[in-house]
Amino acid sequence: MKRVAVLVSGRGSNLAAVIAARDRGTLPDTELACVVSNVADAGALAIAASAGISSTVIRHQDFRTRATFDAALVERLHGIDYVLLAGFMRLLSPVMVGAFKNRILNVHPSLLPAFPGAHAVRDAIAYGAKLTGVSVHFVDEGTDTGPVILQRSLAIEDTDTEESLHARIQKIEHQLVPETLALACAGRLRVDGRRVRVG
Ligand code: GRF
Repeated sequence: MKRVAVLVSGRGSNLAAVIAARDRGTLPDTELACVVSNVADAGALAIAASAGISSTVIRHQDFRTRATFDAALVERLHGIDYVLLAGFMRLLSPVMVGAFKNRILNVHPSLLPAFPGAHAVRDAIAYGAKLTGVSVHFVDEGTDTGPVILQRSLAIEDTDTEESLHARIQKIEHQLVPETLALACAGRLRVDGRRVRVG
């Protein structure tokens, strides 16, 4: 069993998808050990509570630097094998990335390396892209730059708004995130430079 911590800042629909996958039995090697939020009133906290998963709030405003905030995260994550960033809206410093090398997974709402950053859905529409998608990747020191694990694409329609497109993207996320977590926890991911091989 791999112990997984889920880091959140918001609604928590990806957390809910992971819990549902666990309950269906499709995450046989995963123990959802804890949820950590940097936002005290994140909806994800209620989702964790109703699933009986212990949660902690570590407010980034209580720390003077990213490094000290990350040191508090590392301390809280003692004994954790994998960290899943599921809508966690803070950049991690080398303190966290170094402590969990190739063990932090992030879900990003575009086909990386297109449209990194906090407004990927809006940026894809504004650019006029016809395709976008979902990427699940390992986290490195950069912003959405780590090795890609799984990606899935979808078409952007002429009528799409940021909301309508994000809703379709989230449906894909809710499949891809548990799928990736299952592969990681089963020990089926090998990182070879920038390439992640599924064994
Ligand atoms: C997702 O769309 C994810 O790609 C982005 O933040 C959103 C989080 O959604 N990083 P939720 O909190 O899991 O509903």
